[in-house]
Amino acid sequence: MADRIIIGSDHGGFRLKCDIIKHLKELGYEVFDKGCYSEESCDYPVIAKAVAQEVLKTSGRAILVCGTGIGMSIAANRFDGIRASHCTDTFSARMTRMHNDSNVLCLGERITGTGLALDIVDIWLDTGFEGGRHKNRIDMI
Ligand code: RB5
Repeated sequence: MADRIIIGSDHGGFRLKCDIIKHLKELGYEVFDKGCYSEESCDYPVIAKAVAQEVLKTSGRAILVCGTGIGMSIAANRFDGIRASHCTDTFSARMTRMHNDSNVLCLGERITGTGLALDIVDIWLDTGFEGGRHKNRIDMI
């Protein structure tokens, strides 16, 4: 069975989300899009909540996109068990998987170009959690 990725955006992240969905499907991922479904203005906390709840229900992984990535990360991190990481570079994407066991990646369409965003996505998806002392620290959160 294909790996499943949950994804969501508001209007500010809609176009980058579409690029990411296309990329993930080409890589063979099953993509579950929780909205939005057009560039019509909408509220990022609503999407972040729907995605966070799906991640918690399925022990899954998700990508959230808004204009900056910041609103989505603030909203998603309000849910116990969500470790949402706002990344604008590949080093952070790798480290947040290795050390924070990040289960939600947040990106900003108005900050990060598509090429870099797709590299960030690939590294975040392909990097494993180191566990050990990092698991102890996560348990303290
Ligand atoms: C929408 O204009 C914008 O505020 C939103 O996409 C996001 O950047 C919020 O943090």
